Amino acid sequence: MIMQHFLTLKDLSQRELETIVKRAIKLKQEPQQAMRAESKTLGLIFSKVSTRTRVAFEVAMNQLGGSAVFLAANDAQTGRGEPVADTARVISSMVDLIAVRTHAHSQLEEFASHSRVPVINALSDDFHPCQLLADVQTFIEVRGSIRDAHVAWIGDGNNMCQSYINAAAAFGFSLSIACPLGYEPNRQLLQDNSHCVRLVDNPAHAARGADLVATDVWASMGSEAEALQRKQHFGGFQVTQDLMAEAAADALFMHCLPAHRGEEVTADVIESTSSVVWQEAENRLHSQKALIEFLLS
Ligand code: CP
Ligand code: NVA
Repeated sequence: MIMQHFLTLKDLSQRELETIVKRAIKLKQEPQQAMRAESKTLGLIFSKVSTRTRVAFEVAMNQLGGSAVFLAANDAQTGRGEPVADTARVISSMVDLIAVRTHAHSQLEEFASHSRVPVINALSDDFHPCQLLADVQTFIEVRGSIRDAHVAWIGDGNNMCQSYINAAAAFGFSLSIACPLGYEPNRQLLQDNSHCVRLVDNPAHAARGADLVATDVWASMGSEAEALQRKQHFGGFQVTQDLMAEAAADALFMHCLPAHRGEEVTADVIESTSSVVWQEAENRLHSQKALIEFLLS
């Protein structure tokens, strides 16, 4: 049997992704309907810090009747050089599911290839698929459907942006991306998805008529040393009320959080009625619970 991992949105079919999002919406309304996962354990192996992803996974397992074991990579033998493959073999012999937050996406792939149980990408340098389940859930809850919507991505062509590209293909929306020169997403990924994704030359162009404007920090985890330089390069790439005025009148604003007010987004936008960031954050719980159900069954 082929092991079903969730390293990027592309690991699941369009239908499976839609089923998970639909289930997340249902579980939010009727949490008592969730599967029982007594005696099931989720391992969390994180090489980067986390608030939302970790809490959502731990609470989800708790509510399902199972448990979660959290391992900060640096507190484990992996921090002293135990090979990824050995760690994967050992931990997957004891738990039922593993969520990994790491740097290089290739490390996650290596981990998954040696795991006996499904592996979830809890964020890598290249992708953050769990966040997209919550973002799509949030858009559907507020607007009914995301199919044929127009989404604008403003800022870094990072793990979030690249997951938005995969989501555009999977969920059938169009995506306009505005990034500073040199911070574009992976060229091959753009090419492969050119039917629904386009790179444009400035934020106003991307935001024009958009149903959703999304952004993320200018310096992701692992890029802290570039923060000052990035601040200079990302100057014109802030989501402001003026930029939101380019979007559709009822456009939503999303941010995976944590946010840096005054950098990628102004405080008035994140606190505005267009902003659904708190609902988006809460939906991490419901969508990750639906994902756990899917991978365990
Ligand atoms: N959005 C997100 O993944 O948040 P954390 O880094 O707090 O998990
Ligand atoms: N792009 C950000 C997302 C944080 C949830 C990072 O990787 O740090």
